[in-house]
Amino acid sequence: MRGLSEVDTVAVIGAGTMGNGIAQVAATAGYDVLVRDVERELLDEGFAAIDSSLSRLAGKDELDEDPEAIRGRITGTTDLADVADADLVVEAAVENMDVKRDIFADLDEVTDEGVVLATNTSTLSITTIAAATDRPDRVVGLHFMNPVPIMAGVELVVGEKTAPEVTAFAHEFAEDLGKETWESDDKPGFVTNRVLMPWINEGIRAYDEGVASKEDMDRGMKLGTNVPMGPLELADHIGLDVCLDASRTLHEELGDRYKPAYLLKRKVDAGDLGKKTGKGFYEYE
Ligand code: NAI
Repeated sequence: MRGLSEVDTVAVIGAGTMGNGIAQVAATAGYDVLVRDVERELLDEGFAAIDSSLSRLAGKDELDEDPEAIRGRITGTTDLADVADADLVVEAAVENMDVKRDIFADLDEVTDEGVVLATNTSTLSITTIAAATDRPDRVVGLHFMNPVPIMAGVELVVGEKTAPEVTAFAHEFAEDLGKETWESDDKPGFVTNRVLMPWINEGIRAYDEGVASKEDMDRGMKLGTNVPMGPLELADHIGLDVCLDASRTLHEELGDRYKPAYLLKRKVDAGDLGKKTGKGFYEYE
């Protein structure tokens, strides 16, 4: 297996909310980063998000280098074959098992067999994703939190066949990006989403049943329980489609106490996905 000292290039699959954040923190830590998405336009949107995040951090004097130097280490491609030179891959494409298994089967073909393949999935089984490859021992969950450049933690998810040295490598990589880690077994939702998703869904249901206005629901939870965002704000921030996908997986795996809220489904059906589309429970510029 390739050790961290042999990792120069990190490939990130997906340039969306999480992929562009992961690319940014890896480049900030000094790695060359290759981002792969299915369309050029999606790469451009991801890179625009990185540019604005880096200039915000530079404005607060939180970078050790010029933003241009960090950006210079990030390139994009729409061709999966370009990932062949990567020393580590972090997948952050859509939360769908079939899509992820296809991606991992392709990654297994194109990358060197010593390369660790990590997934940023928030709820899907690492073991099932890993089974799409011939190297399940080298597949691990590296579950970054949103927004990646700001959040201090990364959840490491250990699949049925993940080798102990791969888990150790994942800790080392996350720490090299300046993050703190914790481990979760490969059970639905891991530590964070198993607890977070029912909280978000209950907030949505309570709002839908008229317990409080959306503003009072969020203010109540912030002032009453000392969390930085209430459930509706946080759902908008994560993406309502991402919350629905995660809730559906938990519901399927763990039963009715994880049933997605009706209003969450209705908003996703209407295309109001939260901050990323300008409208969810709230409206955004
Ligand atoms: P997103 O919808 O913002 O971005 C997903 C990107 O993946 C899109 O740009 C899409 O074009 C791309 N994509 C789809 N198929 C692809 C393929 N075959 N190859 C390359 N790119 C492909 O989604 P987001 O929010 O970035 O989520 C990505 C992953 O991270 C999901 O597994 C999600 O569950 C997980 N996650 C999301 C968090 C959040 O707060 N949004 C937090 C932690 C994990």
